[in-house]
Amino acid sequence: MIAHPARPDRRSILAGAAGLAALGAGMVAAPRGAMAKQAADLDRVEALIARMTIQEKAGQLNLLGDPFRFRPMNVNPLDGQGDPARITRMIRDGTVGNLFNGVGAEAGRRIQTIAVEESRLGIPLLFAADIIHGLKTVFPVPLAEAAAFDADLARRTARAAALEGAASGIHQTYGPMVDVARDQRWGRNVEGAGEDVWLNEVLAVARVQGFQGDKGLADRDALLATPKHFAAYSAAVAGMDYNTTDMSEATLRGVFLPPFRAAFDAGALSVMSAFNDLNGVPASGNPWLLTDILRDEWDFDGFVVSDYTAEQELIAHGFAADGRDAARIALLAGIDMSMMSGLFLEHIPDLVEKGDVPMARVDQAVRRVLMTKAALGLFDDPYRGCDPERERLVVGSREHRGLAREAGVKSIVLLKNEGVLPLNPSGQKVALIGPFGADVDNVFGPWTIWGDETRRVSLEAGFRAAMEGEGDLVVVKGSDVDAALPGGIEAAVLAAAQSDVVVLAIGEDSRMSGEAQSRTEIDIPAPQRALAEAVAATGKPVVVLLRNGRAMELSGAVKDADAILVTWFLGGEMGHAVADVVFGLASPSGRLPVSFPHRSGQQPFSYDHKVTGRPADNALASQEFVARYRETTNTALYPFGHGLTYGAVTYGEVALSEATLDWDGEVAVSVDLTNAGDREVVETVQLYIHDRVADLTQPGRRLRDFRKVTLAAGETKTVAFTLRRERLAYVDARGRPAVQPGAFHVWLTSSAQAGEPVILTLGPRAT
Ligand code: NOJ
Repeated sequence: MIAHPARPDRRSILAGAAGLAALGAGMVAAPRGAMAKQAADLDRVEALIARMTIQEKAGQLNLLGDPFRFRPMNVNPLDGQGDPARITRMIRDGTVGNLFNGVGAEAGRRIQTIAVEESRLGIPLLFAADIIHGLKTVFPVPLAEAAAFDADLARRTARAAALEGAASGIHQTYGPMVDVARDQRWGRNVEGAGEDVWLNEVLAVARVQGFQGDKGLADRDALLATPKHFAAYSAAVAGMDYNTTDMSEATLRGVFLPPFRAAFDAGALSVMSAFNDLNGVPASGNPWLLTDILRDEWDFDGFVVSDYTAEQELIAHGFAADGRDAARIALLAGIDMSMMSGLFLEHIPDLVEKGDVPMARVDQAVRRVLMTKAALGLFDDPYRGCDPERERLVVGSREHRGLAREAGVKSIVLLKNEGVLPLNPSGQKVALIGPFGADVDNVFGPWTIWGDETRRVSLEAGFRAAMEGEGDLVVVKGSDVDAALPGGIEAAVLAAAQSDVVVLAIGEDSRMSGEAQSRTEIDIPAPQRALAEAVAATGKPVVVLLRNGRAMELSGAVKDADAILVTWFLGGEMGHAVADVVFGLASPSGRLPVSFPHRSGQQPFSYDHKVTGRPADNALASQEFVARYRETTNTALYPFGHGLTYGAVTYGEVALSEATLDWDGEVAVSVDLTNAGDREVVETVQLYIHDRVADLTQPGRRLRDFRKVTLAAGETKTVAFTLRRERLAYVDARGRPAVQPGAFHVWLTSSAQAGEPVILTLGPRAT
């Protein structure tokens, strides 16, 4: 595997684990110097295992929804159907060891007391939750935050989310999602880091580090990270959630697995298996994925939790005959903890008794779960995070709100600007038109369960706070998200005609992306497009503020607007963050983590597609017998990496310190950037390569590094990257880094479709 600059050495995370592994335990990570603690934990865990009945063992592998702290949520089909009295009995008799999606310190203590004081063995419960982009403080959706191209920011927001989660009695989060987004019809792209493998790797590392912290999992502010969904879930055929996936091993290993590997190398100690079937074998019953790759190749030490009823779904997949068979297959494949189905609890005793699953496999799974509980410090302090006083102090703090605003600002992407932005905060009449102008229901975006609903800053509120003249803003809805409003267009046109500039807040609502929210067209709903046409016909300058959880197809008046800002779902501080950029308190600095295609029908689309044997020349309008569509080029309208600022940044010629990179050597690749504008800006310099001739055909471009550079007005800076052979390598079909001597194109540029390459030659293999 290719080493990451930001990635800590796995050996330092697993300090001391090697010796203990000899004892046959599935060891879990600990900080340096923790060997004695791990040995003691292992003794304790083995002693417990020796005393456990088979039902108690199955109970530790059983994860159910928390019925005690239920809040209405629309994230899983059966949420909220648990019965507190039944679950209380199960905790007492040791048949449930883990609960999820209940949050709160005080109730956490009460529930934990049942496990610790009233169950026979007193094993503490593990509390898990989907803390995806914040708890009470809601940060931008992960896709938005990926647009910041900022590992430090991702680390800090994950840390803040971990602080809030841990202070609310949670031990484990079901994040980060590290599924690479290849098809924008798939609604869950909103939960990840976009289409590029490298950016996914970098942000997977940052998010794991942020969730878990750097003081070890037992630290009171650490949340166990759970990269998901293992594996290839985002490659669902036709972008339809839960659909089958089918791909070569080279694609799986080169595109979909690297972010998982990066997350484990960063210390993630649990992982969630996926719903989809992969090349005919469902991921949650797939021994090749869950054991051969995860354990034997990668030495993963934590536990595997199935996604919600995923092992039960082996029946619907046509891969298991019934519940018993499904439990057997999943367990033998490598699932350690069953989410929600109850099948492990129901069938493990019989499976072991009849010899269909060896007791050793059950013990191994129990050991992994208990060792993780030990690593989290739960045997020493089962009530960690159960302090309501601390919860009050930490959760939703002013500092976290400030961070949400900063993250919001940094996530916004300026697609185009024909001289209209930034707007003046005074002396200008602004018509804020569209379903998202006054809206607060769609600022959080999908996957927020515990967000502070009193802290949802609408665009209108943000604009009013930023604008100086009271009467300078008029707000008109004009249309619902999916349906026309009676008189809506007329009111909008009137408001536009009486204003100097129109700000059009349109796009998708929160329910249009996220789990199970696949779309056939990734466009703006027709009633909103009609609104845009009518408003644009007034001739007033139009600024589009897109609200979206995926890349979108833009057309008509939306595409032709004077300025377009991609504002995603930015979380609780959304209105302030957008106003900061619109009124010029901040220069936009975000970059697209997903390409905006010309047409929906280009999906699946990613900039790093293969070249093919008949590549089209995108500069030519029409060509026969080449790889192209009739209606459009193979480019994106706005490519991955694209994003403008309020400055005017130009790139000089890319220079190499040497034309040849020696096999074990390094070269510097550099470029001069000049900001000819009159404002300070942050430019994201992107390093792409193309391996001209390789043993496996390579994408036309592949991002291999990036850096954010601040340029004052008028400033010129030289930006240099160091390239070594490792960075030129690709992952081969067996999962190994591979590179052959020869020519490479290298770009330092501002997007996946910009710039001219220089040629670098990798010299012959050292003898
Ligand atoms: C199903 C989703 O696929 C997964 O991401 C989530 O963590 C679980 N439900 C639990 O809510």
